[in-house]
Amino acid sequence: MTDPANKNSAKPENEPVKVGRILSGMQATGELHLGHYLGVLTNFAKLQNETDCFFMVANLHSLTAFYPNYPDAHRFIAPMVSDWLAAGISPEKATVFVQSDVPEHAELAQLLAMFTPLSWLERNPTYKDKQANTEKDLDSFGFLGYPVLQAADIVLYDATHVPIGEDQLPHLELTREIARRFNHYYASRRPGDRKADRDILTVPQAILSSFPKVLGLDGRKMSKSYNNSILLAEEKDILAKKMQTMKTDTARVRRNDPGNPDNCPVFSYYDFFAPDLKADVNTNCRSAALGCVDCKKQLLARVDDKLAPFREKRAELKEKPKLIAEILGSGAEKAGKVARATMARVKDSMGLTAGYHL
Ligand code: TRP
Ligand code: SF4
Repeated sequence: MTDPANKNSAKPENEPVKVGRILSGMQATGELHLGHYLGVLTNFAKLQNETDCFFMVANLHSLTAFYPNYPDAHRFIAPMVSDWLAAGISPEKATVFVQSDVPEHAELAQLLAMFTPLSWLERNPTYKDKQANTEKDLDSFGFLGYPVLQAADIVLYDATHVPIGEDQLPHLELTREIARRFNHYYASRRPGDRKADRDILTVPQAILSSFPKVLGLDGRKMSKSYNNSILLAEEKDILAKKMQTMKTDTARVRRNDPGNPDNCPVFSYYDFFAPDLKADVNTNCRSAALGCVDCKKQLLARVDDKLAPFREKRAELKEKPKLIAEILGSGAEKAGKVARATMARVKDSMGLTAGYHL
């Protein structure tokens, strides 16, 4: 397991690898909320300034669970990409694309599937969890192969690092195992060809997002399925209403009761939105000098300031209906070039390009 005290670094058993290229993916399931923003998008926006980044809409992965009504899921792609852009992801800096626009993802996944042991997939914790916690019929070949497709996404781009949440670590571990197994079978198979000892596929490492879990209005983890989210592009009046309903320290019943900020989801928001006010709130909540209504009011002003640019950017993008399609079109072109080069290498090392001779 990863040392939680050492969140941003490579896993201890790994040699630290210099960040070369980043790939990450996200399924489009609806409008993004603060949890996505604080946990993922700020990280993406920072990374794009430091290194070569590929950010992918994982729509083939969505098909594993939404196959009966994929058109319903497809319509979330453009809104999600516009949330990415509103959060500062720039198509000039990073390559933003949709998985199914680059057919090599499916092709490579099929090749990797040939040597991926079933037992690796069957013991994948996400596989079991998801199947246990849904009414959907996820008893499919595609769903079992979800991590194989994810491995293909990553190795296609020679990604050295993959920014992900903790829940995705088992998938990344499988990617590493699949890449190693590929290299074991194929990397030095054809001496004389290219650099025979060189690995064909890059074994990637995780970059865990360092921001703590973002709490929702009810104090549980912010999640679309709990219906406790604050959306990135939330309208001002709805934002105000939602924050009014947000849970505080439940032990603080009356205005004059002292509160405990450590048990208050509202207080956790100060970390990001108003770190300069945190010390005062901490003292004044405990002494009951500050009431929850005022505490939320001053926080709301800060959250609203922070989210205003999202609303503006979203509104701006609405005025340019073709822009998202253009961005994704040129993203797919750029991604496709890299993917085709990897595929050529992969097929070559597997012997698929040997020609046909009697
Ligand atoms: N499985 C990831 C998720 O649900 C999405 C994903 C697909 C992904 N391909 C990826 C993430 C490649 C990182 C790298 O969040
Ligand atoms: Fe939470 Fe602020 Fe109320 Fe204290 S004053 S319990 S930090 S909302």
